[in-house]
Formats: sequence, structure tokens, C-alpha cells
Amino acid sequence: MKRKKEIIDQLKRPIKDLRISVTDRCNFRCAYCMPAEIYGERYEFLDQEKLLTFEEINRVTRLLVSLGVRKVRITGGEPLVRRDINVLVKLISSIDTLSDIAMTTNGYLLPKMAQSLKTAGLTRLTVSLDTLDDEIFRKMNGRNFGVESVLQGIEAASKAGFHPIKINSVVQKGVNDHTITTLTEYFLEKGHIVRFIEYMDVGTLNNWNMKHVVPGNEIVAKINETIPIEPIGPLYKGEVAKRYRQKNGTGEIGIIASVTNPFCGDCTRLRLSPEGSLYTCLFGSKGTDLRTPLRDGASDPELVEIISNTWLSRNDRYSETRSVNASNSNNKKVEMYHIGG
Ligand code: GTP
Ligand code: 5AD
Ligand code: SF4
Ligand code: SF4
Repeated sequence: MKRKKEIIDQLKRPIKDLRISVTDRCNFRCAYCMPAEIYGERYEFLDQEKLLTFEEINRVTRLLVSLGVRKVRITGGEPLVRRDINVLVKLISSIDTLSDIAMTTNGYLLPKMAQSLKTAGLTRLTVSLDTLDDEIFRKMNGRNFGVESVLQGIEAASKAGFHPIKINSVVQKGVNDHTITTLTEYFLEKGHIVRFIEYMDVGTLNNWNMKHVVPGNEIVAKINETIPIEPIGPLYKGEVAKRYRQKNGTGEIGIIASVTNPFCGDCTRLRLSPEGSLYTCLFGSKGTDLRTPLRDGASDPELVEIISNTWLSRNDRYSETRSVNASNSNNKKVEMYHIGG
């Protein structure tokens, strides 16, 4: 499709990244995302027919690429529980001018799927792993899965040719913050990139409070006690993680300080939910429905108009305006498992 004129939002931000959530289901029950006591056996996730099909997702992605998107990340819930997800990867990877297709996964199903994802054209992988402490990890994921299962997934991905792999660790005070250094050492040695993420008030269910947040500068100081590190510049404008390397010049570590040092000013991310709504912010409360026009036979130009209008009217900057003292977790917000990280 021919490239259209670049569109910018109300705060002059272009549209560059698309994050596609392919399912609201997950095989984990992390307390800060999908607490097991709420998301039990009887919880009703989206029915199959409500989910966008791969063809529908591919069509939306192509249109977004024509509007400037250059980077796609597949998320969930847990994207690997969506059946035949490698078929979607293959469809998207055949889009011209799109060279970066990444995925964020909890890693549990990677031993079975890493190779087929690589073959399908996935270019990068991020695995969420909050700690290497087995006892803490079993509690954090709410399903008593051991660390070993995720490490095997990372190993399988490495063998399939993904390198480096990014490891996302959400840091919660008093929960896993004392395990930061061990995680860092382990993955530096493997040549992967650990990124520590400040715990955020996404969704409405995690009883977020500023007291649970370990600020990025404290995380850096903690690592520095045993592994001397120094900042290095960003790889691209608007990069979410601040990058560090060891003072001996090797390795890479990232700090994502979305609470104490928000990055809304350069936010070029648009999110597509599993049932086909567009969200212009991780903290959005309402999306723009694309599934209805898609299924009512809208033409490409009609869809482009809906998408463009959504982006043109965007003025989100939630992380820059949140009150750090008051928890606003009770406001209506989309849940993290619904929209992905
Ligand atoms: P690459 O640079 O493409 O590797 O990815 P990334 O840096 O965007 O990282 P990733 O997509 O893995 O995001 C890491 C984490 O940063 C997410 O899990 C979120 O916790 C946080 N994050 C990512 N995007 C946003 C955003 O737009 N707003 C906020 N507040 N947090 C974000
Ligand atoms: N704060 C920060 N990051 C979060 N993630 C999930 N919930 C939160 C939160 N409250 C991260 C996960 C995963 C990605 C999908 O989002 O750790 O890496
Ligand atoms: Fe699943 Fe990721 Fe949410 Fe954990 S954070 S419950 S792995 S979607
Ligand atoms: Fe973008 Fe919203 Fe995150 Fe700010 S809070 S960086 S606007 S997604």
C-alpha cells in the first residue's frame, strides 16, 4: 500500500509503534496483573468470535504501516496461548517496510514454540521474569510455576537464534527488590539485557501505591554496589529504557522509570486490543472500536480515516500527570492483561 502522509497527534507525536494484544488469556496469574482470586476457573475471557482474526489483525497492521508504523510488538495476556500465533507472525512479517516484529511473553511455552516463531519471521523476543528466586517467583506468578520453566524457555529461544533477549523484571518494594543483583549477574553472563521496570498503576486491580515503587535511581544504586555500571545513550528517540553498561564496557542493562521519569513526550505507541479496539494510552479507559467497521465491510480508506482521527485527537500523557501521592487505581482504566505491556 502507498505510504500516506505522516500523521501527528495533539502533542505533535507521530505514530511509530503498534502493540497488538492477541488474547486476554494467560497461563500465569501475576498478582499485579491478573490476581488468581479474581481470574479463577469461572472467569469469562473473550469468546473466540470476539477476537480479531489473524486476517483482520494483518489488515489493520498493513493500514497502520501505511500511516507510519515501523515496529510491531505482539503481546497479550500471554501471546503464546493464542493458537497458531506463528501464523500471525508470518503474515505480519511479510509486510514490506516493517523490519521489526517483537513479542513479549512469559516464556513458559517457548521450549515448544521458539523455533517456529523464529522461522515465521519474529525478529526479537522479550521475556518477563521478575526474579530468579524460585520461592518468590512461584508466589509472584500465582500458579506456582518454577523459575526453571522460564529459564528453559529463554534457553530454547537462544538456541533458535534470538539474541540478545530482553528480560523484563517489574520491581516491587519488599517483594523482589532484594533479588535485582542476582538477576543482573545471571543475564549479563548470558549476554542478554535485563530491564528493571518501576511498578506502575496500570489497570484497577493491583492496589498500586507509590510505596511499592522502587525508583529507577535506587535500582541503579543497588546494582552499582556490586556491578559498577555507567549510562549509555539511547538507541533511538523515545526509547523507553535508559540504557547502562558495565564500567568495563560490556553488557547492557535497562531501567524503565515510567513512574519517576515518565516518557510520554516521545510516546509514539498505539495499542490494538484482542477484540479490535485502538487504545492511544496504556492507561486509557476507552478504545476506538475497529471490529464493527471491519466486519461491516468498511473499505481501506474508511478504516484509515477512523484510525487517523483516533491518532489526530490523541492528547494522552497519563504518566506525566499522575499524582504520585494519591493512588488513582480506582479510576476506570483498561487492564494490563487486556492491552499488554
Ligand atoms: P524495545 O525498545 O522495542 O525493545 O521495547 P520497549 O523498550 O518498548 O520495551 P517493552 O515493550 O518490553 O516495554 C517494557 C515495559 O515498559 C512494559 O512492560 C511496560 O511496563 C513499560 N512500557 C512500555 N511502553 C509503555 C508506555 O507506553 N507507557 C508506559 N507508562 N509504560 C510503558
Ligand atoms: N507495572 C509495570 N510493568 C508491568 N507489567 C505488567 N504489569 C505491570 C505493572 N503493574 C509488565 C510485565 C510484562 C509486561 C507485559 O508488562 O512484567 O513484562
Ligand atoms: Fe500473564 Fe503477563 Fe499478566 Fe503475568 S503480567 S498474568 S504473565 S499477562
Ligand atoms: Fe504513552 Fe500513555 Fe505511557 Fe505516557 S502513559 S508513555 S502517553 S502510553
